[in-house]
Amino acid sequence: MKIKTICCIGAGYVGGPTMAVIAKQCPEIRITVVDINEARIAAWNSSNLDELPIFEPGLADIVKETRDKNLFFSTDIDKAIDEAEMIFISVNTPTKTYGKGKGMASDLKYIESCARQIARVAKQDKIVVEKSTLPVRTAAAIKSILDNVGNGVQFQILSNPEFLAEGTAVQDLLNPDRVLIGGDESTKEGKEAVQALVDIYAKWVPKDNILTTNVWSSELSKLTANAFLAQRVSSINAMSEICEKTGADITEVSKAIGMDSRIGPKFLNASVGFGGSCFQKDILNLVYIAKSYGLNEVADYWEQVIIMNDHQKNRFSDNIVSTLYNTVSGKKITFLGWAFKKDTNDTRESAAIKVADNLLNEQAQIEVYDPKVTEERIYTDLDNLKTRSSEENKNLLTVQSDPYRACKNSHAIAILTEWDEFKNYDWESIYKNMQKPAFIFDGRGILDKALIENIGFTYYKIGSGN
Ligand code: NAD
Ligand code: UGA
Repeated sequence: MKIKTICCIGAGYVGGPTMAVIAKQCPEIRITVVDINEARIAAWNSSNLDELPIFEPGLADIVKETRDKNLFFSTDIDKAIDEAEMIFISVNTPTKTYGKGKGMASDLKYIESCARQIARVAKQDKIVVEKSTLPVRTAAAIKSILDNVGNGVQFQILSNPEFLAEGTAVQDLLNPDRVLIGGDESTKEGKEAVQALVDIYAKWVPKDNILTTNVWSSELSKLTANAFLAQRVSSINAMSEICEKTGADITEVSKAIGMDSRIGPKFLNASVGFGGSCFQKDILNLVYIAKSYGLNEVADYWEQVIIMNDHQKNRFSDNIVSTLYNTVSGKKITFLGWAFKKDTNDTRESAAIKVADNLLNEQAQIEVYDPKVTEERIYTDLDNLKTRSSEENKNLLTVQSDPYRACKNSHAIAILTEWDEFKNYDWESIYKNMQKPAFIFDGRGILDKALIENIGFTYYKIGSGN
């Protein structure tokens, strides 16, 4: 079966870039990305490519090439479902904020509403692909809804988790380490559905990198991959604290262990803590799943990754306060970076939010500069915490569009995101315009210590003990 029409429900960080790349690589497939969020769809359709809702290097060019040719963005969800042979579900699966499993379990209400809408609208057989990250065995729930509310239509459910990282989404989609497809290979229809999706990816991904498994292995592999990646960050961050006490340097330790081919060099950068929409939510989900099977030791093991990450964010702000003579009240502190990592405008769970909240509790005056994050987003992030009123947040924190202005008269600079441009600033002129002693707290370890100290700064690098 050769797929000619695709619908993707959810035009977010995954749905948008993933479908843009499939559209580019498969010009013969007509793809419609739909969303209930009208503003988001309007932004995807904007004639000004700078206004796309998501910033990802290389994405605007692909959207320009494919949009209104074989890639469409729409709010008419029923129509797109009706026309599609294959439907990707790419909606958000946040941590539940209410009821049983509050603060841990995955909230599947958006997934369920997609399944019900597909069941209501579909008149012909369809392949439904789970693209969202889901608790293991969710496909059984989706199948049950589709089979029982449907119109006698046959549905095949596949799991095809996404492994892209933000900031490198386009590259990751064009050259994935692997594509994972879980399906029911025990039936003819199941096999055909798996093959139909394999054929799409095979247009540009080498066959050996397309892995097929049963549905449950595929669902669980996604949670496992994120848990392992986050655990590496928490592990190196745990060592960074030991480095600071002992005079070791985490950059040197990372290099030394990373040269062991069994460990490998990637994902060993100590930081102010991992952020992003997924690591925390997916581990909490894993912990919840383990607990629900009575696997308490397994749950505790993974929960430590989150505990360590929270500790890393808090100890970064604690260190700023204690270094600035135990008070930051009324002092100007500059944040360079607000995004959860470089090359993205995404701020979900960014360490900057927690560090800012802690320092605002100490009555610091914060000025933020981030090359891609909007002022509106920064205030929304703070207001969502509900720690203080919107008005108080606005009084205590200012957003600047010029980094030099953000640093002027500041007591301390905190680097929260590893944007490349920070390395190339005129640090001498920044130093001249700051209060003395002038402090830098480098939460990403990106500046050259010798150079910065030579200028006169008091420099604190995460994971450096001297
Ligand atoms: P997102 O919040 O950016 O986008 C989800 C979109 O789905 C939103 O625009 C929302 O309006 C829409 N939506 C929700 N319910 C809908 C419905 N019933 N009908 C139509 N649209 C609906 O989320 P995201 O970052 O793209 O993540 C989506 C999924 O992919 C999550 O499960 C996430 O864990 C997973 N994932 C994310 C990343 C990432 O880098 N962000 C990477 C891999 C996997
Ligand atoms: C992560 C995974 O890398 C993707 O494979 C996965 O698809 C995605 O989650 C998801 O499921 O959402 P992402 O969160 O976009 O991708 O970005 P990462 O590069 O993994 O970074 C996550 C956080 O860890 C960032 O805050 C980053 O700064 C931090 N990090 C990463 C470190 O502190 N040190 C490192 O060495 C690596």
